[in-house]
Amino acid sequence: MMSTQEEAKRAVGRRAAEFVEDGMAVGLGTGSTAKYLVDRLGERVRDGLRIRCVATSERTAEQAAALSIPLTTLEDCHDLDIAIDGADQIDPAGHLIKGLGGALFREKRVAAAAEAFVIIADPSKEVPVLGVGCPVPVEFVPEACDDVEAALRELGADPVLRLQDGQPYVTDNQHWILDAHFGAIGDPFSLEREINQIPLVLENGLFPGMATRILVGDASAVREWAPAGSPGPEGDESSTDLSEDYG
Ligand code: A5P
Repeated sequence: MMSTQEEAKRAVGRRAAEFVEDGMAVGLGTGSTAKYLVDRLGERVRDGLRIRCVATSERTAEQAAALSIPLTTLEDCHDLDIAIDGADQIDPAGHLIKGLGGALFREKRVAAAAEAFVIIADPSKEVPVLGVGCPVPVEFVPEACDDVEAALRELGADPVLRLQDGQPYVTDNQHWILDAHFGAIGDPFSLEREINQIPLVLENGLFPGMATRILVGDASAVREWAPAGSPGPEGDESSTDLSEDYG
């Protein structure tokens, strides 16, 4: 039987798949929530939906390919209609931390190329302030590890090299990640810029002001809202009752 958190991930993933329309170019996120989105899109493609997708990771590309979802690249398809992805933290303004799954570089490229950037999450991801209990992942060129670590310390972080099986975790782009623990982040816009100014840093997991719609669900309902300032009806909020699906 599915846990409540897993049900929530499934609910938002499937709901967000309904935003995708015939003919769209779609960015596919990475992670345990986005997996449900991709599953549902696979069902819709089997039923005749025609879309082109750009995956944000090798993992997602493999899942999509196995479901016969047509894949392309940002090089061949610069403008996406929509990108849908998970998040690690969401603050009340809709700013995000992403990248605990290691796919932040492509995730940010894909999100930036999309007209709509939809976030799907279970309620545990909503926090009053970014950075408490969650690091900002920073992807960088491995040779620069010591310098990037020192520069992150200068910015006030406690950086920890991400490991896998005792070795540095290697991203899809052959880089490494330092998980930078800042504690409460006051201004995610300036911190995002400052981190990216460190030489040989490729990208970091702060995504301020990018989400255009946020879906947070539990097994009984999905709540949807638009961060202030994002395109579309500002601050508008709605809720979809799922009791028929799960009751
Ligand atoms: C991948 O790099 C991440 O940005 C994920 O989108 C994020 O970690 C959310 O993942 P889950 O849906 O598995 O929590």
